[in-house]
Amino acid sequence: MEKTIKQLKKELKEALEKVNDLKSLNDVRVSFLGKKGKITLLKEQLKELSVANKKTVGKMFNDFREEATNLIAEQEVSLQKEALDKQLLAEKIDITLPASQLKTGSFHPLELINDEIISLFVSMGYDVVRGPEIETDKYNFERLNIPKDHPARDMQDSFYITSKHILRTQTSPIQVRMMEKNYEKGPIRMIAPGKVYRKDDDDATHSHQFMQIEALVIDENISLAHLKGTLEVTMQKLFGGTRNIRFRPSYFPFTEPSLEVDVSCFKCDGVGCAFCKESGWLEVLGAGMVHPTVLQMSGYDNKKYSGFAFGIGIERIAMLKYGINDIREFYQNHWHFLDLFKRIDKEGY
Ligand code: PHE
Repeated sequence: MEKTIKQLKKELKEALEKVNDLKSLNDVRVSFLGKKGKITLLKEQLKELSVANKKTVGKMFNDFREEATNLIAEQEVSLQKEALDKQLLAEKIDITLPASQLKTGSFHPLELINDEIISLFVSMGYDVVRGPEIETDKYNFERLNIPKDHPARDMQDSFYITSKHILRTQTSPIQVRMMEKNYEKGPIRMIAPGKVYRKDDDDATHSHQFMQIEALVIDENISLAHLKGTLEVTMQKLFGGTRNIRFRPSYFPFTEPSLEVDVSCFKCDGVGCAFCKESGWLEVLGAGMVHPTVLQMSGYDNKKYSGFAFGIGIERIAMLKYGINDIREFYQNHWHFLDLFKRIDKEGY
């Protein structure tokens, strides 16, 4: 028996030396420790030993079985590590190789401006609202103090769908819709982005469809100073630095006084250059204090409440900010044009 154990020990060592992968190791395990393995079978013979021998030989057998189990387990661990190292080496990736480029899209420049303005006003507590693109004569004109045959209707040549329905020529009708909806006839602070349509011939600076953002603030004691402060913040956000703004008297039937707003040229900082036609100023939007009649027509007490409103042309801002001199670029969607805004899209400016 003792001899057999020694013999098996030798055999096991030899067998393990030949092992070179997990599969052959498992074969060795089965042939020694499996149900019909050499060591397992040897155990049967222990029963036949005398009591005295059982003790010593039994211990020897147990030690050997434990040793065999450990040897196989150790080899298994080192083979597993070897296999993993091999696999890692085979699957090694050279991370310094240039990656294949995925062609990604970018935000449209008009969308970038739109988002910038919206997030600014949301941060100041304005609601963002929308209105229908097909408007009625009532909201697009009459409730904005532009009755039939009013010469101001000529300012905005309209696309008529029926005698009462038009494609809205401005986002200002959303002002009226909000005032009307506000049953308490109390304060309002809103902006309304959207597309507008005018029967213009398309050229470098005109388009039959463009985007506006309307703003309306109504409360007690709202003054021109609030309007000016709000516009200053807006221009600083859009054009960076400290931009000066100036108000020029203008005319809109729904505001009184009415103004157009110029911003100091961001190319020459107001000195005068080719971009601003040597004036030092760029015209950016229409604004004014809400006309008392407009407030009254929407059920507001115009003695108690006053308000300001303005309408920003998104294309105009984008053209000024990015130095684009043909409005049609925005609608053709040539990828090499849109690609220019990728970096701006990622880095914010
Ligand atoms: N709706 C005017 C336009 O489209 C702009 C404007 C809005 C003017 C609000 C004053 C107040 O030209």
